[in-house]
Amino acid sequence: MNTVALGVGGGIAAYKSAELARALMERGFAVQVIMTRAACEFLQPLTFAALTGRKVISQMFSAEDNLASAIEHIRVAQENEILVVAPATADVLAKFAHGNADDFLSTMYLAFTGRVVLAPAMNTNMWNHPATRENIRILEARGHEIVEPEEGELACGMVGPGRLARIEKIADAVAKSRSPRSADFEGETVLITAGPTQEPLDAVRYITNRSSGKMGYALAEEAAARGARVVLIAGPVHLADPAGVRTIHVRTALEMRKAVLEHLAEASIIMKAAAVADYYRSNAPRLKEKKTAARLSLELDPTPDILAEVGRQKGDRLLVGFAAETDHLSEEARRKLENKNCDMIVANLVSQEGIGFDSDENEVLLVMRTGESIPVERAPKREVARRIFDEMSRLRLALHAAK
Ligand code: CTP
Repeated sequence: MNTVALGVGGGIAAYKSAELARALMERGFAVQVIMTRAACEFLQPLTFAALTGRKVISQMFSAEDNLASAIEHIRVAQENEILVVAPATADVLAKFAHGNADDFLSTMYLAFTGRVVLAPAMNTNMWNHPATRENIRILEARGHEIVEPEEGELACGMVGPGRLARIEKIADAVAKSRSPRSADFEGETVLITAGPTQEPLDAVRYITNRSSGKMGYALAEEAAARGARVVLIAGPVHLADPAGVRTIHVRTALEMRKAVLEHLAEASIIMKAAAVADYYRSNAPRLKEKKTAARLSLELDPTPDILAEVGRQKGDRLLVGFAAETDHLSEEARRKLENKNCDMIVANLVSQEGIGFDSDENEVLLVMRTGESIPVERAPKREVARRIFDEMSRLRLALHAAK
């Protein structure tokens, strides 16, 4: 059976989550309710216990002084497929965004690796406050689904956004996040490269590019969430290793090539999101070069094209390349797809502000071996990653059927 952990925050809308528990059960979920201490001020745990037929969790440590109670948050994190919080108060959003773990719900959240759906509800000014906006941005970038509050008259008398979304809408968002993707990449090993590479010029200087690695990391998290085994080969980035993903850190294009070739045999899907340097200084001195008054010319050699090399020996594997273009997006992407023997090219226009390199959002065109081109509108990178895997799932079926 599909199981959902339903977190209830302490807001006036807490009473509506009793209806949500019922709506989720009608959609075939078993529901484990977790109430924050503040939620218990608004509603009795007994209401949910009677509805769901399960004991409600409302505190971190129960009266029983045993190990089972001390690690219950881990058990609940492992047993549930989806975590939905309704109402998600400003406090719950802040705790989740920053990883504070001072009660059962926020501690369980940190131990949880499944889908997260958040339905905020609060006063309009609290919703519009820069702190809340920033927390929402962080949570969206993490791939969580936010079911936006609706406009209307609020309990405090104010009119504006802040009212909990309709219960049916929240329940549908939960049901949608369950299927059909929960484990559709189970059994696959996905090899992903991410970030820039750094090519030394001497002992202290190097050339690199603006890639942040965020797109590749979002793909790694999405692949792991969909049941795949993931090997992530990352250039120098400022991102934490994703949970449950084997992350290998490299610096140069040559090191990245070596790591990719070492792990190629075990991979069934390869996604080359890294912005690999096209040139390097093969004779970079081991010491720091002294400056002189004269003009300096550097001689650079081309790096090996890892994607093209993998394309030549890919066999039955699915190969996804990336293209960063400033014009002729579709034509350039199709040319790369053919030249490098890829099954899909994820193409983005790097000349647009706010998307692509070094940003939290992306807007891409998926150019497929089947001849289709699928635009993915601007969205947080994790959402874009989800769309890429949805299309890969379709492509996998199409290529399988064509064999
Ligand atoms: N790539 C690679 N090894 C390289 C250079 C690029 O594996 N030495 C991969 C990237 O990871 C990406 C794809 O090739 O998936 C596209 O890279 P891009 O630099 O856009 O393409 P190029 O082949 O360099 O073409 P051009 O410079 O003509 O746009």
